[in-house]
Amino acid sequence: MAEKFIIHPRGPLMGRVEISGAKNAVLPVLAGSLLTGQPCRITNVPNLSDVEFMAELVESLGGFTSWDKSSGVFNVDTSRLSKYDAAYELVGKMRASFLIIGPLLARLGRARVPLPGGCAIGTRPVDLHLKGLAALGAEIEHTHGYIEATAPKLVGAKIYLDFPSVGATENIMMAATHAEGQTIIENAAVEPEIVDLANFLNTAGAEVRGAGTDTIKINGVKEMKGTSHSVIPDRIEAGTFMVAAALTRGDVMLTNIMADHVKPVTAKLKEVNVQVTETEDGIHVKADGEPLIAADIKTLPYPGFPTDMQAQFMALMTQAKGTSVITETVFENRFMQVGELKRMGAVIKIESRSAIIEGVEKLTGAQVNATDLRAGAALVLAALTADDVTEVNGICHIDRGYYRLDDRLNQLGAWIERAKENA
Ligand code: UD1
Repeated sequence: MAEKFIIHPRGPLMGRVEISGAKNAVLPVLAGSLLTGQPCRITNVPNLSDVEFMAELVESLGGFTSWDKSSGVFNVDTSRLSKYDAAYELVGKMRASFLIIGPLLARLGRARVPLPGGCAIGTRPVDLHLKGLAALGAEIEHTHGYIEATAPKLVGAKIYLDFPSVGATENIMMAATHAEGQTIIENAAVEPEIVDLANFLNTAGAEVRGAGTDTIKINGVKEMKGTSHSVIPDRIEAGTFMVAAALTRGDVMLTNIMADHVKPVTAKLKEVNVQVTETEDGIHVKADGEPLIAADIKTLPYPGFPTDMQAQFMALMTQAKGTSVITETVFENRFMQVGELKRMGAVIKIESRSAIIEGVEKLTGAQVNATDLRAGAALVLAALTADDVTEVNGICHIDRGYYRLDDRLNQLGAWIERAKENA
């Protein structure tokens, strides 16, 4: 049954929190395990429902998975991969499942994967993925809502991405690992998750160079092997806890974090008067001093400010002194949290791709709805500072990408109950 959070007012968050492995790194790595055909051991795997979906998908194709959720060790063996077509019910649940098309094509010469539908944050096409696969020699057909790709042989090519799409870069990079000759991806995405995937593929025998720059070169190899890989920490989960600390004027130490990966968030937090210090242990966020001040933000591909942190930062700016303008340039419709924040007393106006936020003294408790993962997280953060009880419905979206956000915030001093939606 659907669940909700009941969030009670409490004071500043205090204490330590350990950041989980990155959702957006582990999903492509699991898709990449389809390429190896040998057992892989993935560690630091976050306990998330999206990882569950990906495991189901790998199993549905003939792979074997075993996951010890308490230790975060995930074993995957795709030696018996037998199917090239993915079920709509599984792919429809999660857009990242489209990442299996490149690996399936490379491994089996064929893939049939449902087109991911539109979702709450925009239409999210896959044209760049498909253009890349076609450039490697795949024949692409759209039939009855499915993409069918066939290529008895993939051949390396030079591919320029019109936009540095994260998913397209990953899909093409994976397909190219088994292509004949060299593939060059230009204007590639440079997100840390791309580097993590390349590291995984390389330890499994692939030859990927340049990941983390806008030009990635992949020399095709005939065979790959099993490997062990530890997933990078989740920079978005880290950013979310950093903003939670800032919003509640708290004092929180975050561990298992890559300071470099959260630099854009750190920079903005400092700009709005929050103290952020790198220590040997991790990152220390302290916001019990000066009042928060407004700042403008524009989301951009990495190393710009992440679109996945836009909603949480908007929650923060509702409590800042002054007016801030947040411009979303990565997705066309990613202000789903605005209506809900307004129900909590925020003053926000949308003008085209920008949201204009007037800081208010206090947010009030209300019943609100999490429409997607990051919008949901933003509502939880906003609720931490509201003067009254807030109910956040639709928290299945939040559970997709945050492991037990409620319990972990509670350990820092929040008061969040998880209850049945109609209870
Ligand atoms: C990934 C992340 C997501 C994050 C996003 C941007 C995963 C599992 N998800 O999503 O959390 O918000 O990066 O940092 O890693 N586009 C096209 N054609 C395509 C592909 C993308 O036009 O073929 C557009 C999209 O509609 C969007 C923009 O490019 O406007 C960015 O999308 P992309 O970088 O591909 O994001 P995802 O890989 O889907």
